[in-house]
Formats: sequence, structure tokens, C-alpha cells
Amino acid sequence: METKNRRLTKSIKYLERAKKIIPAGTQTFSKGPTQYVQGIAPIYLQKGKGSHIFDVDGNEYIDYPMALGPITLGYCYPAVDKAIIAQLQDGITFSLMHPLEIDLAELLIDTIPCAEMVRFGKNGSDVTSGAVRLARAYTNRDKIACCGYHGWHDWYVGTTSRNRGVPQVTRELTLTFQYNNIESLHRLFTDNKDQIACVIMEPISVTEPSEDFLAEVKELTHRNGSILIFDEIVTGFRLALGGAQEYYGIIPDLSTAGKGMANGMPISALAGKEEVMRHLGELFFSFTFGGEVLSLAAAIATIKEMDQKQVSRHFWHQGKKLKNGYNALAQEFGLSDRTFCEGLDAHAAIRFRDSDGKDSLEMKSLFQQETIKRGILFNGIHNFCYSHSDDDIQVTLDAYRDAMVILKKAIEENALEEYLEGTAVQPVFRPL
Ligand SMILES: Cc1ncc(COP(=O)(O)O)c(C=O)c1O
Repeated sequence: METKNRRLTKSIKYLERAKKIIPAGTQTFSKGPTQYVQGIAPIYLQKGKGSHIFDVDGNEYIDYPMALGPITLGYCYPAVDKAIIAQLQDGITFSLMHPLEIDLAELLIDTIPCAEMVRFGKNGSDVTSGAVRLARAYTNRDKIACCGYHGWHDWYVGTTSRNRGVPQVTRELTLTFQYNNIESLHRLFTDNKDQIACVIMEPISVTEPSEDFLAEVKELTHRNGSILIFDEIVTGFRLALGGAQEYYGIIPDLSTAGKGMANGMPISALAGKEEVMRHLGELFFSFTFGGEVLSLAAAIATIKEMDQKQVSRHFWHQGKKLKNGYNALAQEFGLSDRTFCEGLDAHAAIRFRDSDGKDSLEMKSLFQQETIKRGILFNGIHNFCYSHSDDDIQVTLDAYRDAMVILKKAIEENALEEYLEGTAVQPVFRPL
């Protein structure tokens, strides 16, 4: 397969300008330069079409991060762009409300199992934070139990290694438990009796729930008088149109959605049981762009298209080929204990382990370098869109094969660093 070191002149120049005036050089850590092998990976993108993207130097790639999940149909997808352009003729955002707020709320109520009432946000963090505030108000309790990633606001980020600037009093209110470890949640409830307002969790990140785990979480949460919130910012519209709650048949009290809802337009949703949701009207959850209309139009067009075309089936179908194909390659090269693709077919992750079984960013970096050279933008996650074609999958598997040849050589020669032609990928959060 063709490999080339692509010209990155413009990308590099832009980054030099950005570093002087934009802290960290980026708006989103996971899209920034620390997440890609510098010197090999593109840094700035110009445009996209379907499942392909083009960087500012004119290089083309098959995209798997897909803007970190929001692009579920494809870049410049005609049905959605048409809806945005039609709305643009009438206006973007207004001084009073717009009827599309109701149309989208009704559509989400028909789509998301727990949804009886709905409010909108812009980012995922808006609605996870809204859900937590609502749960606190509803239960008259302050503490939160969480499991997963939930955004940039104080109540969550205080639990991470990037917690500078979050007051200690806030940090103490958010407790964490481990996925697939019901005992760890049990302990939180025992040690904080009648103090936990809600359990907020990603129903699945990559590791699958063990049998009954989600049902047990729900039962334990309710038995302790708490609210169960599924953070479906990633899983919503992806595992099934109704998200992980539809896929696993476990219905939470509240749920959040965001990425994947509007094919890239900035909108998120907090949905849930009427009995809890109606209290949101008494709290403060309100912002200037909450009902911005281009995003509402895009969300309606996206969800209808995803429903009509059964888009999540496409994710499962293409994902299975890529996941099985990757694992077959790892086996063929005798690397199954060092790298594997895990998770649900529709949303799987490729893992790299050093000889002690620990995450290896060096291996990931080398694999990323070699796939990028072959025209695949790789960050370890398979985020599919409806435009990922059979041909894309085959080209990707061919690139994976070539990259694995090099990975194997580098491991055998104990020379990962020497094979790396740029700087290795860095973690966003240091392990605590
Ligand atoms: C599960 C989950 N929840 C919440 C968020 C926060 O969303 P946003 O970055 O749009 O604020 C993310 C973002 O990656 C996420 O993956």
C-alpha cells in the first residue's frame, strides 16, 4: 500500500501562530497536537466530504475520530446541509422561541426511551451539569456518584488529574465508582447514606457491562432514593437510535445526548421522566443559544435520516468487519497479547499494551504514524458514520496490515522509539 510523508507546511505554520495566542494551541484537547504524532500527522483540517477529510495542505484521509463522534452521517451530508441552508434563509437565532424547539422535543420523546420531557444545550457538559443540578434539587442532596467522563465542569473535572482551579469543597462532593463493580457503588451508598443525589454514568464506554450490572446499578440507585442518569453523549443514536438504554433495555430516570445528534452542529439534550424533568423549570438552566435554530433544524434532519436509513445497523456492520479484521491481523502477527480491538462492534477501541500489560502510548503512536502515512486518521477509536463505505473499510484494513508489519518489527527489535519519526502521543489526563 502506498505510504508517503505528506507535506504539512501549512499545518505547521498555523500551529506556530496558534501557540503564541491560544493556550494549549487548541480548543479541544483531543483534537490538539498532543494527540497525534507531530511531524507526521496533519494538524489543521480544511474540509470534509462523507467519511473523508482534507487537511490544509491538501492531503486526504479516511476519518475515524469523526470530530470525536458528532459526524454520524458524513461531512457535508446533503439532507442535513439542505435543512441548515433552508433555515439559514429565515434566521439563525431569535429574540423569542421558535417552533422547531417543540418539533425536536417531540421527535426525541419518540426516540429516547426515558424521554417524557426534553431541554436542549450546546455541549455535552451543559446537559450532564444540568442533569446533576436537577438531581440535587429533586432529592435535596449534594453528593454525586459518577463513572466515566462527563465533561469540563467543576463537579466532574474535580475528580480528574486536571483539577486545578476546582475548589476542594466541590471536589469532595463528587465520588467515583468502578464500572462492572457493583460493590464499589454499594460502598459509596453505605458510606454516604442519604447524601447521594444521583448516579451518573456512561452506560458503556468500551468494556461491555457484565450481565445484570446496569440493572443492579438501577436497583441500588433507586433503593437508596437517588436518581439514575445515563450519560449517552457518546452512545446516544450510535448503539441504537434510542441509545444504550434501548440497546440494553435498562431505562434511566434522566439521560443526556449530544454528539451524533445533528451531524456536527452544536446541540445536546437532557431528557427524562416528567416527574423529575418538570422541576428543571424552577431551577436555572438557561442560556442565550439554547434554542439556536440551525442546530434544531440539523438535529431533526439528522435523526429522521438515521431512522429512515437505519444508520446504527451500518455502524454495527462496518464495525464488525474492522474489529474482526484487526483482531485477525493481531493474531496472524502473533501480537494478540500486545494489541487488540475491543468493545461493541458499533463503537470499538484499539488497545496497545507494553510487555508488562500497561497501556503503551509508544505503540499507539507508531501505529498511528504508519496508518496516517497511508491516509487513515487514526486515534484508537472507531467512530463510524453512514458514509464509511466497504471500500473505506478495505483500505483501512490494508493500512492496518502494513502498520502491523512495522509494529511487529519495532517490538521484536525493541526499538519502538527509533521507528517513531515524530513526537509520541501524550495522555490528556495523567493517571491519578
Ligand atoms: C460521555 C461524555 N459525556 C460528556 C461529554 C462532554 O461533552 P462536551 O465535550 O460536548 O461538553 C463527553 C465528551 O467527550 C463524553 O464523551
